[in-house]
Amino acid sequence: MLEISGLRKTFPNGVVALDGVDLVVPKGEIVGVIGRSGTGKSTLIRCVNRLEEPTAGTIHLEGEEITRMRGPQLRAARRRIGMIFQQFNLLTSRTAAENVALPLEIAGVGRAERRRRALELLDLVGLGDRGASHPSQLSGGQKQRVGIARALASEPALLLSDEATSALDAETTNSVLDLLRTINAELGLTVLLITHEMDVVRAACDRVALLDAGKVVEHGPLGEVVARPESRLAQGLLPQFGRVEVADHEHARELVLFDDADERLAAEVAAGARIEARSTERIGDRRVTRALVVSPSEVTV
Ligand SMILES: Nc1ncnc2c1ncn2[C@@H]1O[C@H](COP(=O)(O)OP(=O)(O)OP(=O)(O)O)[C@@H](O)[C@H]1O
Ligand SMILES: [Mg+2]
Repeated sequence: MLEISGLRKTFPNGVVALDGVDLVVPKGEIVGVIGRSGTGKSTLIRCVNRLEEPTAGTIHLEGEEITRMRGPQLRAARRRIGMIFQQFNLLTSRTAAENVALPLEIAGVGRAERRRRALELLDLVGLGDRGASHPSQLSGGQKQRVGIARALASEPALLLSDEATSALDAETTNSVLDLLRTINAELGLTVLLITHEMDVVRAACDRVALLDAGKVVEHGPLGEVVARPESRLAQGLLPQFGRVEVADHEHARELVLFDDADERLAAEVAAGARIEARSTERIGDRRVTRALVVSPSEVTV
């Protein structure tokens, strides 16, 4: 578990980047922090691994106070915190396997063991056959998978992700987020994930916090947040319910979006109209269905 309490960061130029942040990332969960540009998201992450010195407040990782640590103790704590970045930050002169092995090299692990672990980790992220490739020979999604394997090399208790999918297209983003979820489930890894995209929160997170001007203004499990009528987060997380006309030269079609809890509409869509396509996604503990309906006149929203 990661516990952030009363965290403040004022830069020497007077900018207050964090203005009293309280945030808990329960062990084994993925918590998303979302917020617009300049709102302090990266500063928050950089305080957690102490690349920035907080001005005030405390950060505890599994009961140990990171904010107090110095020297060798801090270095040991940092090894327990993996990080992935928007620009991957791989060394171009090294192969994928050598990149993954880097944290092990720094920790003094022997060559054979490093190599064995690196290949095992590459296998875990679906790149078992690309160990000898250099970053320039890999796609963006593959580079981020190498980044994830490298972050896992020192068996971290916490993974920090700062806009790790922002440089990737939608499909690749989803496959990387799927991988994070799988690793989270298999290894029980705790993840603090920073993003400015609601789609990322929706696809990957158990909980979400909205950061605005250095403060957490709203937070909670996804299922709870989407149920709050006044929630700014819910507005972003939920698709707009109702009908959207889909222009087509052959048929009049409408895209109907509804919460599966809305049984009346669900039944009407199922009974009264020809459904050409439908998909259901889970958002927190709600299920939202999108249905492409051919005879929309029979559906009343
Ligand atoms: N080293 C620094 N010195 C002075 N001000 C800084 C420094 N780093 C960040 N800031 C300021 O702190 C505020 C928060 O920056 P931060 O990078 O944490 O935002 P962010 O939410 O990550 O933004 P983005 O979504 O664009 O990445 C901004 O006003 C930024 O200009
Ligand atoms: Mg940032």
